[in-house]
Order: sequence, then structure tokens, then C-alpha cells
Amino acid sequence: MTQEVTLNAALEPIAGQRATIRIDGDRASIILDVTGLDAAGGDALEAAVRAAASAVPGIATVRIAQTAQRTTRRIIAVASGKGGVGKSTVSANLALGLQALGRKVGLVDADIYGPSQPKLMGVEGSRPQATDKLLDPVPTPHGIGLLSMGQLVPADQAIAWRGPMAAGALTQLIVANWGDADTLVVDMPPGTGDIQLTMVQKHKPAGAVIVSTPQDLSLIDAKRAIDLFRKAGVPIIGLIENMAGYACPHCGELSDPFGKGGAETAAGELGIPFLGRIPLDIAIRTASDAGNAAEAGAFREVAVRVDAWMRAA
Ligand SMILES: Nc1ncnc2c1ncn2[C@@H]1O[C@H](COP(=O)(O)OP(=O)(O)OP(=O)(O)O)[C@@H](O)[C@H]1O
Ligand SMILES: [Mg+2]
Repeated sequence: MTQEVTLNAALEPIAGQRATIRIDGDRASIILDVTGLDAAGGDALEAAVRAAASAVPGIATVRIAQTAQRTTRRIIAVASGKGGVGKSTVSANLALGLQALGRKVGLVDADIYGPSQPKLMGVEGSRPQATDKLLDPVPTPHGIGLLSMGQLVPADQAIAWRGPMAAGALTQLIVANWGDADTLVVDMPPGTGDIQLTMVQKHKPAGAVIVSTPQDLSLIDAKRAIDLFRKAGVPIIGLIENMAGYACPHCGELSDPFGKGGAETAAGELGIPFLGRIPLDIAIRTASDAGNAAEAGAFREVAVRVDAWMRAA
């Protein structure tokens, strides 16, 4: 026992709470928690601990095993049945909103047919480097790392990339050097194809956010997207109604050319939470076109709800 006390005292200044020791005769077994250190840092710490432990009288052999708690990184998939409903706009703003709430966020643009995040996030034409065979997310001016299909697949070749190649590319975006990011927001392609299947089967999102516009047709499509996740056991965080009502660029007043409350009612009927309405707002569009995704007010409420869902999940 006393030897354990001596060893602990010797290691404390070097390893803090990281070392868990066991002594068996003249052998010390040490489990070293290297969470948050890179490989070189972990090895340096191990060497220092080994030296200190070996210097403790009566200890002849020192065995050290490194362990690390893997960052529990959760994937939030942003999906819709139909194209053009605002998934990419919502994904970018949700990522910014979650970051503003203190999360460490990465953004994945899985839309092989129309990758738009490099433009939205102001890093058009960027190409990721790789370290240890894994892609390094491209830093954006907003402080969020980005990996996009558009960085891997030349636009004119996207069609030929269906199937296994597209699925492989998705995996490269997800299994990447995301560092300490705790949340990956994934902008999904529209519909229910190979990318979606790989996403739900192989990379199991923590939850899915469904985007729809107020028109009935796209709600039917939204239902198709919801079914895909439900069948795979991925919880639906809720439905966002985008381009809901019109924000007057002059006075800011909201009007409802397509009627109001359709998506909220539909969410109720589908048994999923309603996450909020984003108005059709020229400012959202011009900010997006300028590569200037700026966390607009209406998105904040949505981000708060998604954040609350993540906390409770
Ligand atoms: N709330 C909004 N107000 C104004 N413009 C918007 C809004 N949401 C999206 N847009 C604009 O609508 C267009 C389509 O949006 P976006 O690219 O986000 O849709 P998408 O669902 O990702 O489309 P795709 O299926 O092609 O990937 C973009 O030009 C975007 O700037
Ligand atoms: Mg898109």
C-alpha cells in the first residue's frame, strides 16, 4: 500500500489525474489516460511517467497502457425529400447557431449532386489536405471546419460517382480529422439514394432535422425522408418550415402568401416536433450568395431547440 502511495505521489506532478496504477510485487501497471493529447504528446507523457515510476524504490518493471476517451461526436443530418427547399441554407445556419451556443461544430456537405457549402461558407475552390490518410477539414472564416463532396468530386463527374464511390467519398468526409468537434452537421443530398443509406447504416446520425417548405407537395416528400430515418432507427429531431411567410425587405413585416401553419400541423400529424419557421427573406438569400452565411435571428430559435434536444438525448 505504501508503495502505491509513493508511486502516486511521484506521478502526480507529471500526470495529474491521468495515471491509474496497480502494483503487483515489484511490477507497476499504469493505465495512462491520454485523452486530448496527440500521439507525440501521449508518448512524451508515457516516457516521463515511465522514468518517474522506474525511479521509485522497489519497482523493477513498469508497464504502461495508453487509453483515450474517444470524443463522442454526434452527427445531425439535415435532410429533405425534395431539392431546393433550403437544406444547405439551414445546415450552414444550424452549424453557426450550435457553435454560438458553445458547441464545437464541423460541417459536412454530403450533397454530391449540388454541393453548396464551400460557397455558403466562403471557401469556394478549397481543397482539403490529408494527415495520416484522413482528410483535414478546411477552416472557414466562421471558425467551423468544412468538408464537402464538392472538394472531392469535380462537378462534371458527380453523375458518374453514384453508388459505391459516392458512399466511399461520404465516409472520407465523416471519418476525418475532426479534432475536438463534438457535433457534425451533415447537409444531405435530396431524396433517398445511396448516400442516405450509407449515412444511416454506417454513420448512424444521432438525429435528423427535416426541412420542408409550406407547400403540401414537399410535405409528402418530407414524409419520405422521415421514413428513411425512422426505418433505420434514427430519431427525428423535428421539422423546420423554410421559406414560410415573406419578410418584406422594406419594413420587415411578415406576410403569408402560401398560408400559415401547414408544416406545424403536418409535424403534429407525423408525430414529430416542430422546430420553427424561417421566413422567405431576401437577406438570407443575399448573405448566402455572398458566401456570407450569417446566423440570422430566425435560425437561432431552431438552433436552441436542436441544442436542447441534444442535451436531453
Ligand atoms: N429562408 C430563405 N429565404 C430566402 N432565400 C432562401 C431561404 N432559404 C433558402 N433560400 C435560397 O433558396 C435557394 C435554395 O436553397 P438551398 O440551396 O439552401 O436549398 P437546398 O435544399 O440545399 O437545395 P438543393 O436540393 O439544390 O441542395 C438558395 O438560393 C438559397 O439562398
Ligand atoms: Mg443543397
